Amino acid sequence: MTLARGPRPSQVVEGAERVGASVLDAIGATPLVALDRLFARPGVEVLAKLELMNPGGSMKDRSARYIVGGGLADGSIPPGSRLVESSSGNFGVAVAMAARLHGLAFTCVVDPHASAANVTIMRGLGADVEVVDEPDTAGGYLHTRLARVHEILATTPDTVWINQYANDRNWLAHYHGTGAELVDQLLVPPTHLVGAVSTTGSLLGCARRLREWCPLQVVAADAVGSVIFGGPGGRRELPGLGSSRVPELHSPAEIDRVEHVDDATAAEACRELLATEAIFAGGSTGAVVTAVRRLVDDVVPPARIVAIFPDRGDRYLDRVYDDAWLDRARARRVAGTR
Ligand SMILES: Cc1ncc(COP(=O)(O)O)c(C=O)c1O
Repeated sequence: MTLARGPRPSQVVEGAERVGASVLDAIGATPLVALDRLFARPGVEVLAKLELMNPGGSMKDRSARYIVGGGLADGSIPPGSRLVESSSGNFGVAVAMAARLHGLAFTCVVDPHASAANVTIMRGLGADVEVVDEPDTAGGYLHTRLARVHEILATTPDTVWINQYANDRNWLAHYHGTGAELVDQLLVPPTHLVGAVSTTGSLLGCARRLREWCPLQVVAADAVGSVIFGGPGGRRELPGLGSSRVPELHSPAEIDRVEHVDDATAAEACRELLATEAIFAGGSTGAVVTAVRRLVDDVVPPARIVAIFPDRGDRYLDRVYDDAWLDRARARRVAGTR
C-alpha cells in the first residue's frame, strides 16, 4: 500500500483523520481525574488536571508552542533566528521541541538544578545548553542565568530572547489552553484553583479563563525560599518551583492565598500521591498536593478544588524519589536551614 504524503494540516481537523502534523499537535487535551483516595473529606472534591501527560513531559509545552508559534506568525521571531532562554529545564525542553520543529536554533541557559535527563533531551533536540554554576545572592541561580542570557544577546547576531517571566503569551497559552479545557471538561464550576508558581503564567492564565465562568479562589503553591510573594530568598532544590526574582507577569491581586512548601514536604506528598492515587509526578506537584491538603482541612464545604499537576516523576529519580536526597531535605527542614 502506498501512503499519499501531502502536506498535513497544522491542527487536527474535525471530520478528518486524527493525525497531527507533528508532536506539537499532541500538546494539550490533558485528562482531569478525581483524587478521591487521597482526599476523602465529605463535601470536598479534588480534581487533578494532568498536565504531566504533555509530550515534552510538562505543562510548559503549551507556553513554548504558543510563544514560538505566535512569534513566528507576527514576525517577532524571524525565520532562521536563534532563540535564547533561561530555564530550569521543563520550559527548555519544550522550547527545544518547538524550535526543532520550526527550524530555529536555540540556546538554553540552565543551572546545576536542571535534571540530567532534561539536559540530555535538550541536547538531543539540537539545543545548545549552557550550565551556569555560580549561585546568586537570592539563593538560586536565576540572576546568574539572566546575566548570561544578556551576554549572549549582546554578542550573537539574530538572537531573540523569549523571556517567559515577562511574555504575555506565557499566560495566554494557559488561558486559551489549560483554562479553556477546564471550562469544557467541567459541568459544575470549581470553587478553588491550586497551581505551582515560578513565572506565575500557568496559574494566572487558568485563573483568568475560569474567572470568566465562575467566582474562584486562587491558591498558589510556592517554594520556601522563593521571593515571589516577598520574604527572603533561600536554598531550594526542586526545579520549576519558586523564583529568586519577582516575575513581571506576577499579579498578586489575582491570587487569594499562598502556601509555601519546603522540598522535603513536597517530596513526601509526591510519594504519597504515588502510593494512593498511582500518579507518578514531579516535585512541584508535591507542593500542589500539600497546598490542597491545607486547603481541604480548612475550607467550608461544599468545595470543588481543581489542582494543576505540572510534570511527571521520571526526571526526579535523583531527588524526590531518592531516599538519601529526601533524608538531607528532611534534615534541612528540621534545622530550618532549607
Ligand atoms: C515542574 C514545574 N512546576 C511549576 C512550574 C511553574 O509554572 P509557571 O512558570 O507557569 O509559574 C514550572 C515552570 O517551569 C515547572 O517546570
